[in-house]
Amino acid sequence: MPRKIIIDTDPGQDDAVAILLALASPEEIELLGITAVAGNVPLDLTAKNARKVCEVAGRADVKVFAGCDRPLAHTLVTAEHVHGKTGLDGPDLPEPAMPLQDQHGVDFIIDTLRAEPFGTVTLCPLGPLTNIATALQKAPDIAEKVQEIVLMGGAYFEVGNITPAAEFNIYVDPEAAEIVFKSGIPIVVMPLDVTHKALVTAARNDAFRALGTDPGRVVAEWTDFFERFDKEKYGSAGAPLHDPTVIAYLIRPELFTGRHVNVEIETQSDLTRGMTVADWWRVTDRAPNAMFMGDLDADGFFALLTERIGRL
Ligand code: BDR
Ligand code: CA
Repeated sequence: MPRKIIIDTDPGQDDAVAILLALASPEEIELLGITAVAGNVPLDLTAKNARKVCEVAGRADVKVFAGCDRPLAHTLVTAEHVHGKTGLDGPDLPEPAMPLQDQHGVDFIIDTLRAEPFGTVTLCPLGPLTNIATALQKAPDIAEKVQEIVLMGGAYFEVGNITPAAEFNIYVDPEAAEIVFKSGIPIVVMPLDVTHKALVTAARNDAFRALGTDPGRVVAEWTDFFERFDKEKYGSAGAPLHDPTVIAYLIRPELFTGRHVNVEIETQSDLTRGMTVADWWRVTDRAPNAMFMGDLDADGFFALLTERIGRL
């Protein structure tokens, strides 16, 4: 039986590849809907980009909802410097023809969790955690209904990318992240420690292009685009493909290793706001609340991704 998921996202080229991976994997994943959140770019663009991505996969039937347009307590910080003005710069994609759903994304999350059998829906946040935290605040009864939250966010050994101490998704809405990490829901975290090993090298980028399909070309052009920024920044072999690790974990969990530890979110300090303080060495007696991943089989990950994108 495929696993039912909701993708909560701020596309973003890497979010886009994650959505395609889910849509290409119907045996393992049933995508109930996509909720857009403000993050890499403002909400109107992320809600539009999510629909563009569905159309790349030929899936105009997917339900896409707009969620929260700003973090719980801070003004929105965006990342056009990484993702371009539209959030999805790279290939020329048509304006989406499919509709945006009328319902608010947060209400869709709440209604879905209430309607589906206990413990059968997994939430996959790929952006700031505003929608998920708002749903938990509005409807605390849903917490025990979630099967698992598998999210991209945070860092421990890699520390930060948007500030010296914080990863982007957590930094944008640390208050929301705190609510999620304190919710008691089983959480799996794909931090920068993992995603900085998922590098799109030239050979991996060529493999997407060599698929000879439209989705293959589009993925290659997306990863080409945001590679520029990360190469300048890290001088690395290619850009980290962060968000698809979340979906890959649902399909092939054995590609990842980590530790079940305590993770707390810094919300007070100006210097380190949004830091994910992971007790990797288990030096406190704080109760573990998340499976914090530390490593992945990068070749296995890209082999899976390329094979699946090839199915679209
Ligand atoms: C995260 O920030 C965003 O820019 C990416 O889409 C990813 O979700 C990486 O820090
Ligand atoms: Ca993202």
